[in-house]
Amino acid sequence: MKAKMMVVNLMAIREILTTPDTFLRKRSKKVRALTPKIKALIEDMIETLRAAPGVGLAAPQVGADQRVIIAEYAEPSEDPEAEPKPPKLHVLINPEIVRNSSETNLNNEGCLSIPGYMGEVERFDTITLKALNRHGEPIRIKAKDWLARIFQHEIDHLEGILFIDRATEVWKLEEEEIQERSPLSQK
Ligand code: NI
Repeated sequence: MKAKMMVVNLMAIREILTTPDTFLRKRSKKVRALTPKIKALIEDMIETLRAAPGVGLAAPQVGADQRVIIAEYAEPSEDPEAEPKPPKLHVLINPEIVRNSSETNLNNEGCLSIPGYMGEVERFDTITLKALNRHGEPIRIKAKDWLARIFQHEIDHLEGILFIDRATEVWKLEEEEIQERSPLSQK
């Protein structure tokens, strides 16, 4: 009798590495093929990000030195009267910033790998990036404001760069602030 093959796709929450884990300082490798291992990594990253909860996650944060980042963020509606937009999931493989605005802005950032700290970081207002999506198809995305910031933060992770390296100021959050902290700041 032929054994019945069952494909089980179990997503798993992975452990998020935190500083001073030296793995976070590695430069991640370019993804050469969308192997089952990479697909599982992507599924696990989505599950891990949602459980954290956070708005962005890079593969090295879960111990995979592969150039994969994800972001899930609801961009504000242009019209304040309109219904808020639903969060949009972005899965980017081998992301590369191909264009950036000359304008920059300073804003506060946190990182799931540096719990309890925030910093003020200068980022480009607008970026255009190219990448492969989760199906391996080439895509180009133009992002502004907070989404642009999330992407810049996550792409830095692929180079082993953390927000504390770029921050003009870093501060420790009080216990109460950690409780109340919006997942918006968690990357
Ligand atoms: Ni981060």
